[in-house]
Amino acid sequence: MVHSNLRDCKAWQDIGLPLSTTSNEACKMYDAFLSQWVSWTNDPSLGGIEGCKTRLQAADPDFVMGHVLINGIELTGTGNSIRLDKDLDTAVKKMVGLAKTQGITERERLHVEALDLFSKGYLKGMYSFGLVETNFYDLAEKTAKEGLVLNPCDAWSAHSLAHVYEMRADVNNGLKFMKETENNWKGSDMLACHNYWHWALYHIEKGDYDSALSVYDARVSKSCFETASMLDIIDTSSMLYRLQMEGVNVDNQWKKLARVTKDHAKDQILIFNDAHILMSLFGAKEINTANEVITSLQELSKTPGENYQYQIGKDLGLPICQAIAEFANGNYSRTVDLLNPVRYQIQNIGGSNAQRDVFNLLLIHAALKSDSRDHQKLARCLVLERDAFRPNSPMTERLIRKATALHNVD
Ligand SMILES: [Fe+2]
Repeated sequence: MVHSNLRDCKAWQDIGLPLSTTSNEACKMYDAFLSQWVSWTNDPSLGGIEGCKTRLQAADPDFVMGHVLINGIELTGTGNSIRLDKDLDTAVKKMVGLAKTQGITERERLHVEALDLFSKGYLKGMYSFGLVETNFYDLAEKTAKEGLVLNPCDAWSAHSLAHVYEMRADVNNGLKFMKETENNWKGSDMLACHNYWHWALYHIEKGDYDSALSVYDARVSKSCFETASMLDIIDTSSMLYRLQMEGVNVDNQWKKLARVTKDHAKDQILIFNDAHILMSLFGAKEINTANEVITSLQELSKTPGENYQYQIGKDLGLPICQAIAEFANGNYSRTVDLLNPVRYQIQNIGGSNAQRDVFNLLLIHAALKSDSRDHQKLARCLVLERDAFRPNSPMTERLIRKATALHNVD
């Protein structure tokens, strides 16, 4: 690496990546630092990365992207954190402060923001969630725990770990974790209700319906009725549907929830939402309003235009919604015929694997109750598949026992 070839202010400007400093030396050292970092080399003629860092700071101590680089290499090394290292904490705060007082570019501002979030662990939580949704549970667990070390109050990391325990049917660790960390995330407006929903799912998984309903009353539905936010509505509806499938009478809870969901019958914003709204309307026996959801989606799906939800309406959205209707009417065989052909497409309506599990369960329960011998056989295959994918699940064990009892097989 030759010093004269390193990019100065004008050279960075010329390639469309202007840097907010007037020091050519700072720009050159930025180039040298970055080049060594991305190639994992140390150029002795420049004093290596450490040498460049010193020269960069000396050339322009207030160069924001220099601070991004120096803090970035420290933070992404993951051997240090702003919680344990006060100097690093001060350095990140200084970078954020400098960014606020200087007329930096949008690209530079986004770098500062990303690094600030990274330092607080938020990106770990989001990354971990991507991992859990692609079935890398061990890596997701490790990453979420790293995020929580950096910031115990990061609700995304806590949420991601809740998913890991859910997908592994690891109810004891799930319950322990939620209880131990509750104070750290219960103040999160966006995720607290949803984290309580995850908490309640462990109780349902165990078959402890009273505890699930306690969480429902004290947290999930309470939040839903206070905020009427769609995520809270989804969680509330999904939870009652799961309890109902388990044989718990939740008629009164449905009636109360339908007072909120009725207003959303004509939304058709997301099929995922429509399906949950339908669950609550059928649960409350609001048949006319429930049918309005389906009719409206049918109409909108005829001329979908650019709207993705309406584009998948006919072949995916409507079969799901009609399956919910048929199940509510006791037409279990029809429910299976609608839901089984689309079971591998359901992910296209969005939501997480844990959220969409309600549709897996719907198919299993419908197939279990269907009069068709083929459907009953399908039900037994589905529960065995579930057992293989998520071993040691108390719920799956109950489903296997149910299939044995209903179908008179050993
Ligand atoms: Fe979740």
